[in-house]
Amino acid sequence: MQTQILKDNPSDIAAAADIIKHGGLVAMPTETVYGLAADALNAEAVRNIFIAKGRAQDNPLIVHIAEWAQLPPLVMDIPQQAQQLAKAFWPGPLTMIFRKSPAVPDVVTCGMNTVAIRMPSHPVARALITQAGVPLAAPSANLSGGVSPVTAQHCIDDLTGRVDAIIDGGPCRVGLESTVILLCGTQPVLLRPGFVTKEQIEAVIGSIQVDDAVLHPLRDGVRPASPGMKYKHYAPKAKVVILNGGAQAYAQYVNQHAEPGVMALCFEEDLPNLQIPTLCYGRASDAASQATLLFDMLRRADEQGATLVYARMPDSHGVGLAVLNRLLRAAAFDVIQL
Ligand code: TXA
Ligand code: MG
Repeated sequence: MQTQILKDNPSDIAAAADIIKHGGLVAMPTETVYGLAADALNAEAVRNIFIAKGRAQDNPLIVHIAEWAQLPPLVMDIPQQAQQLAKAFWPGPLTMIFRKSPAVPDVVTCGMNTVAIRMPSHPVARALITQAGVPLAAPSANLSGGVSPVTAQHCIDDLTGRVDAIIDGGPCRVGLESTVILLCGTQPVLLRPGFVTKEQIEAVIGSIQVDDAVLHPLRDGVRPASPGMKYKHYAPKAKVVILNGGAQAYAQYVNQHAEPGVMALCFEEDLPNLQIPTLCYGRASDAASQATLLFDMLRRADEQGATLVYARMPDSHGVGLAVLNRLLRAAAFDVIQL
């Protein structure tokens, strides 16, 4: 398959919308990460997303809408908490899980009776949804198991020859996937942390639970609330080990383990103290900067031939919870206490 590289301009977005209307696949920029989009109401097109990514058949997709009016036909009901959260955070990096209506094909939800819905804020994503005239099913636009794409080049690296088009909308502002919250159970549960933080959500709807899988490996035999939690995720080819300790202990450990192929995934403040090759993922006290850079740096570790990456452990407050959640998965939960 020939993959067209499109630009962020009206005629290219119109061409991409046309591809979607004809059942094709388009990688699109969103404010979080790039998504691999197809018409969510076309079961055949959605099936092709799973093939293009090599995605497991039991890992459901998020449906993207541009307007509130697109929501009611997709869901059985809209809980009051969902209305409050939409008012506070949509359009934006928040995904809410509803009871699904029969209008949503089973292939989107992998047979689950719930559906994940998000209204992105990125103007290109919004224009594509509007011009295609349908909600778009879109997982992150990477090969399954790998690191989510935050630039068009990442999508080109992973999906050339596998999708109809890739729209280059520049780097993603947030850099990590959306916050996912389940609202159709007895109590709201945070399934995946993101740029919209637990604290921000609690300021709107009161206290919420955090799913065990956010910070801990799944125990054998436990069925995750969010199927995506059970897969190896965000993993570069290099082995990643997280070092939990202060700046001084980190620098000392890393410098003592200098060997060819070893790199430090560190904060800006660490740079002057390190004597091995570094990949800098933001500032120690600025989780948003870490979120923006983390996935790009994990991909660079592979490009630069790293075999072992020692990552500085991020703080787990606010957006930091999302950064830590992704890094723990990239490291397969391998943490050394310093
Ligand atoms: O920011 C994002 O959310 C990006 C952009 C493209 O919008 N999309 C994204 O999709 O990250 P994906 O497929 O990589 O992650 C979707 C996550 C998976 O962990 C999946 O298991 C979970 O959402 N999910 C989807 N539908 C669900 C449902 N009905 N119940 C529980 N979890 C669900
Ligand atoms: Mg993904």
